This record gives sequence, structure tokens and C-alpha cells, in this order.
Amino acid sequence: MKKTLIVVGYGNMAKAILTNNSFVGEYYHLIIAGRCAHKAYDFITQCALDACVYEARVESSSGKNVIDIEGKDILLCTKPAGLESFVFQGKANGIYSVLAGASIAMIQKHLSASFMVRLMPNIAANSKLSATAFYYHISDTKDSAQILYNEIRPFIESFGTAVQVDNEALIESSIATSGSCIAFLALIAESLIDAGILEGLNEQQSIALVKQTFVGFAAELAHKSPSELKYAISSPGGTTIRGLAVLEESGVRGTLIKAAHTATEHARKAIQKYSTQDNLVPKKC
Ligand SMILES: NC(=O)c1ccc[n+]([C@@H]2O[C@H](COP(=O)([O-])OP(=O)(O)OC[C@H]3O[C@@H](n4cnc5c(N)ncnc54)[C@H](OP(=O)(O)O)[C@@H]3O)[C@@H](O)[C@H]2O)c1
Repeated sequence: MKKTLIVVGYGNMAKAILTNNSFVGEYYHLIIAGRCAHKAYDFITQCALDACVYEARVESSSGKNVIDIEGKDILLCTKPAGLESFVFQGKANGIYSVLAGASIAMIQKHLSASFMVRLMPNIAANSKLSATAFYYHISDTKDSAQILYNEIRPFIESFGTAVQVDNEALIESSIATSGSCIAFLALIAESLIDAGILEGLNEQQSIALVKQTFVGFAAELAHKSPSELKYAISSPGGTTIRGLAVLEESGVRGTLIKAAHTATEHARKAIQKYSTQDNLVPKKC
């Protein structure tokens, strides 16, 4: 029998995880929840999902949407402040949260579940190729290995690769290696396209060549280290090593490390901010 997955939020990350996700389609009865039902309907249409919209009851005292999570799996895909927009009733089976900046302790203030998973996917979930770090916490005395291998891993692996970390703080660290770094790589791709144009290629030629270079690079990186790749094409006194020397001289390596650190620190600060801020005011739809 299919289990129920309630996805809270209908933004880019929810779309990346759910679109063309055959595992979710096969194992879950899918429900989309959010503060605006019409946005949830549009989302289902845009992503061509076999899903329905959670028609939430509004709690008269708070004006918040009430979501019944009893026995269900929940995927939290809003911004962290979104936790304040809902009243979650009951105890879920599992909570999966992609919220950068919301710790398990913070999530537990709003929802209870047999197990909680924090995950940091990246937008390559669209192509079912996300690199996703995850950390899980089991509240009940249930069989941890069984939940990990029968529930958590299959779900996360349905949109890419799952890398388990044993310390929750490392979820924020993975913003450096995967969460944000697709944007950094996109900047590098853009720069190389510009470089091709500067050297006389037209825009289409330059884009086509850079795109395929990234595809080839990913395939090579699957079985070689970055150093092996670098030295394989750097002949002594040759062309490539001259370009690499310029990159090193201008501190590209240090700049990338600093950029990743700045992004990571921002998420760490958000955790501190949200954990000390009890009354976030959700914006109106
Ligand atoms: N994009 C990435 O590459 C990436 C990677 C890792 C983790 N994440 C995390 O994924 C989460 C979603 O990111 P996204 O890229 O999908 O963002 P997005 O496209 O901007 O979507 C944000 C979603 O959150 C909802 N939301 C925002 N504020 C809310 C509030 N106060 N109350 C209720 N719902 C609220 C929005 O619904 P409304 O339209 O109704 O406001 C929308 O469904 C974030 O927590 C982010 O940290 C994203």
C-alpha cells in the first residue's frame, strides 16, 4: 500500500525533487501543501505531478493553516520562516527538511515525528543528479538501520546521490561542496564562454563547447582526481600550465574557498538567528 508524502512548499527545490521522480510516484500518495492553495494547484500542473492539494483548515485563533501529519512522511520545502505559517497536528512517520538554516531542534518545536532528516540537496535534483548531504535523528526506539536503508536512503537517492554526515553542523558545511556550488560553477562556465568569445568564437560555438567540456569533465572526474586531470593536460613549459599559473597568481583557489565559506557562514548565522527568534512573522500571501 502506498504511503502518504505531504510536501510543504512549491518552490524551486520542491519542483527539482518531485518532477519526474519515479520513486515518489511509485511509493507515495503525493499531497502538496502551502499557504496558497492556488499556487499548489499551479505547481502540480507545471510539474505534471500525480498529486492533490492539501486543503488546510484555518485555525481561527492564529489564522494559520492546520496540517494533519499523523503517520505521514513530510517534506519541508519552504523558507525557514515558513515553519511559522502552519500548525502541524499529530506525529509524522518521517520529516525530511531541505531548509538551510533550520536545525532539527528548531524543527522539533513545530513538528514531531519518529525520525527527522535534514538534507542539503542542490538544484541538479532537477536531473536526478543532486549531491545531497544528509543527517538523521531517530526519536523512537525503532530499528535505525532499517529506517536508514528502507526509507531515508531510497527517498534521497531518488533525486541523486546521498552522502551521510554524522554531525548535524556538517549539513551547513555541504553548502560549500554542493548546496551553493552549482552557482559557483555556473559563474566559471559563464567566464569560459566569455573567454571563447574574446578569442573569436561566436556565442553559440562557445556555449556548445563549454557545456560539453563540463559534461566531459564530470565523466573524467568520476574516475580521476582533480590533480590527475590537471597534470594529464599540463605538459612541461606548455600552454595549459601557463594558464594555471595565472589563475594561481590571481588567487582563484583562495577566492573560491572564501566564497564557499561566506555562503556557509550565512546559513550558520541563520540557524543562530532562528533559534533565538521565537516569533517570526510570516508574510501574507
Ligand atoms: N534552491 C536551492 O538550490 C536549495 C538548495 C538547498 C536547500 N534549499 C532550501 O530549500 C528551501 C526552498 O528553497 P527554494 O529554492 O525552493 O525557494 P523558492 O523557490 O523561493 O520557494 C520558496 C517556498 O517557500 C514558501 N515560503 C516562503 N516563505 C514562506 C512563509 N513565510 N510561509 C510559508 N511558506 C513560505 C514559498 O511559498 P509562497 O509562494 O506561498 O511564499 C515557496 O513554496 C529553502 O529553505 C532553501 O534554504 C534550496
